Amino acid sequence: MKNVLFVASESVPFIKTGGLADVVGSLPKYFDKEEYDTRVILPRYMCMKQEWKDRMEYVDNFYMEIAGQNQYVGIFQCVFDGVTFYFIDNEHYFAGFAPYDGTPDWNIEKFAFFSKAALSILPVVGFRPDLIHCHDWQTGLIPVYLDNFRYGGEYYRNIKTIMTIHNLKFQGVWDTKTVRAITGLPEYYFVPDKMEAYKDANLLKGGIVYADKVTTVSNSYAEEIKTPFYGETLEGLMWARSNDLSGIVNGLDYEEYNPEKDPMITYNFNVSNFRKEKIKNKLALQEELGLEVNKKIMTIGIVSRLTDQKGFDLIAYVMDELCQDAIQIIALGTGEEQYENMFRHFAWKYPGKVSANIYYSEPMSHKIYASCDAFLMPSLFEPCGLSQLMSLRYGTLPIVRETGGLKDTVEPYNEIEKTGTGFSFTNYNAHEMLNTVRYAEHIYYDKKRDWNKIVERAMELDYSWKTSAKHYEALYNSLIG
Ligand code: ADP
Ligand code: GLC
Repeated sequence: MKNVLFVASESVPFIKTGGLADVVGSLPKYFDKEEYDTRVILPRYMCMKQEWKDRMEYVDNFYMEIAGQNQYVGIFQCVFDGVTFYFIDNEHYFAGFAPYDGTPDWNIEKFAFFSKAALSILPVVGFRPDLIHCHDWQTGLIPVYLDNFRYGGEYYRNIKTIMTIHNLKFQGVWDTKTVRAITGLPEYYFVPDKMEAYKDANLLKGGIVYADKVTTVSNSYAEEIKTPFYGETLEGLMWARSNDLSGIVNGLDYEEYNPEKDPMITYNFNVSNFRKEKIKNKLALQEELGLEVNKKIMTIGIVSRLTDQKGFDLIAYVMDELCQDAIQIIALGTGEEQYENMFRHFAWKYPGKVSANIYYSEPMSHKIYASCDAFLMPSLFEPCGLSQLMSLRYGTLPIVRETGGLKDTVEPYNEIEKTGTGFSFTNYNAHEMLNTVRYAEHIYYDKKRDWNKIVERAMELDYSWKTSAKHYEALYNSLIG
């Protein structure tokens, strides 16, 4: 049996702010249980729903030094869907209304504590991993601490590490002096070929330098981050580690996202009956959101964190033009105020046509994936993207920019060869996006049979974890075979 440990800052069903939680909560279920014992460590945030906290069982506690102080480390445990989750408890660090609440330096201290605690609880819970799979900057210190712990004892020797980059934009950067004081790591680590980048300390960089393998969540993004545009100042490092860097595209939890069984949608459907059944969801949602109830009109969905990553500048730029067309737009998301207000403004300007839902709701997200005809995701960059995979699964055709995982998972419709599962454009340009949306409108209104064929192909794709989990297994085996 090979012991694999995931350490991450979020995971469904316990806590979620984005796709990272979907990945961490679903991938461990798909490894061969005969060969791998996969467990997960998460923070025990105070903002987790009570129903989840109630399921956790107290295990033990001890004190650990961080930021020059002795801090309480509580351990809780819970088995969910056959996977063991451990939770690190500390009310000082994990209070707050959301996982990343607080100033940047506070977050660095919070996750330095988390990373060191994740390693420190292992002897206590009696799970010695052969490999630790780290996710994003919040766990970047783990490979570094592991390097440092090795001097301290046998227990941590030979534990392999993988660092998966879900988003290179967030790196956990703060001044070196403070990070040294917080982590307690020796000066040795704070030099440019280790954790230092441009005079500051960079937690993700530490993880990338010290991990045995580095992965990211699509092939295209793995290539893109070696260039200055996508490299977020670490492109040189990505080049330097390119022999150990690979892209493995995300999968979806096909049990959770299943139009045939999904309890969150109004009418269930599948690839053979979507022509009759899917449309009923559209009518129900139009009614619910106060849009014109009209089964003929093309509806375009958006479900997203509202940040510049997702291409909202393009949408804002041509929204007035787009709203002249025979379409409806249904947006769900929270984030930067300028984008929240942009959607509120257009919902006010075009009542019955634009619906702005500025909140977080899983059931509403499922309804949008199930009800709309198309899904708009014109990202500036997109490491993988799960929303387009969810849309494909529910026969809602993605309109995307050809970047990162969007490029790898959405095949543009080709009228001549009758292939493709969505629509795409190349440049980060608002009118290029608008033209592509209008081309999709043309197929929807004038070539309905072709449209339905695209839906059929989209729904028949397999973006479950089946294939990608095998790629991770192969990578694990290359280190701990
Ligand atoms: P990212 O991780 O960059 O936010 P992904 O496409 O990988 O992008 O994943 C986003 C996840 O968050 C999807 O599961 C999506 O449905 C969900 N999501 C985003 N915004 C909301 C919202 N307002 N309400 C419900 N779910 C949301
Ligand atoms: C990040 C990326 C997104 C990816 C998700 C899960 O949040 O922005 O593209 O799908 O992580 O890997």
